[in-house]
Amino acid sequence: MSSQIPTQPAATADYLPLAFGFALHQIGATVSSLGILDAVADGPRTAEQLIETTGAHPRSLRRLLYAAVKAGVLFLDADGYRATPVAAHFGPLSDMHAAPPVWRAWEVLEQSVRTGRSAFDIANGAPLFDHFRNDPKLAAVFHAAMTAGSDVQYPAIVKHFDFARFRNVVDVGGGRGTLLAAVLGAGSGLRGTVFDTANGVVETAGVLAEAGVDDRCDIAVGSFFESVPEGGDAYLLKNILHDWNDEECVQILGNIRKVLPEDGRVVVFTSVLSEGGDDEDPAEALGAAISDIEMLVMTTGRERTLTEYRRLFDSAGLELTATTPLPCPYLYYALEAAPIAS
Ligand SMILES: C[S@@+](CC[C@H](N)C(=O)[O-])C[C@H]1O[C@@H](n2cnc3c(N)ncnc32)[C@H](O)[C@@H]1O
Repeated sequence: MSSQIPTQPAATADYLPLAFGFALHQIGATVSSLGILDAVADGPRTAEQLIETTGAHPRSLRRLLYAAVKAGVLFLDADGYRATPVAAHFGPLSDMHAAPPVWRAWEVLEQSVRTGRSAFDIANGAPLFDHFRNDPKLAAVFHAAMTAGSDVQYPAIVKHFDFARFRNVVDVGGGRGTLLAAVLGAGSGLRGTVFDTANGVVETAGVLAEAGVDDRCDIAVGSFFESVPEGGDAYLLKNILHDWNDEECVQILGNIRKVLPEDGRVVVFTSVLSEGGDDEDPAEALGAAISDIEMLVMTTGRERTLTEYRRLFDSAGLELTATTPLPCPYLYYALEAAPIAS
């Protein structure tokens, strides 16, 4: 009989994210849900102060704080605990992923892969965006997470994409309006409209007012499966098409095509799956692949390659005219499409 003690098959740094990714996530999510990220936003807090503000079991909270420092969620110095820069952004995102309906959806990923159905629908009995009508709490957590994602993306979008050639920009599925607030804030001649469902725009007026652009920006409520507001010469779809299957995407794009002037543009801001992959950054490619699985879990959609986007545009009477790579996470691009003359 061998007396050798089995060793771990890989270096700890490689092994931990794969075997214990769920635990790393829950450490961060619990730091957020206990209100610790909010508590340290104004300045460092000691363990004693955090025990008092959270009311948590003192020894268990100290263990969580210790793990959160090792996991890169918090750092500790002589003044106390603070959030790491990355934690300030993932708080709202981990609040969404830790919400019971979303966590339940990830539990049934296998069923989703076996059947091709959205895991969220399987686990909760309704598709994500329909579920929001009866679960305003989850809707609010979701839209806050989207805003946190936009906070990372919109500075690069505004810097690297030329909006100055447009007069009236409609952000289709624009949610809280974070992107349009930044776009209008950067260009004084522009007007805009944030278009979304009723639950999507609950906080939008406040965001636009705070950015000082509410006098140049309307809010319109409706469904992009019915119609989109008229009058724009640019229609933005940021992180929208990946929520929907091809048929649904062609319906959304087709409704935009109906009101798009001949010199108008549809601009899709999205991750694009690479087709070759030789020169891609592995972390960025992994991010895009995870986003694709997240779409399988949460929606009927998926991430797509450039060829697949070209085909979608074509099916809706549009032609891909320009692609601009953007320095945002996960192989992110602006894809511009113009109407094919009918
Ligand atoms: C993934 S979020 C993206 C939000 C925003 N564009 C961003 O990038 O942060 C999808 C958005 O589509 C909106 N949405 C879903 N179904 C819709 C519909 N039928 N009509 C209009 N908007 C819809 C949601 O409310 C949500 O704001």
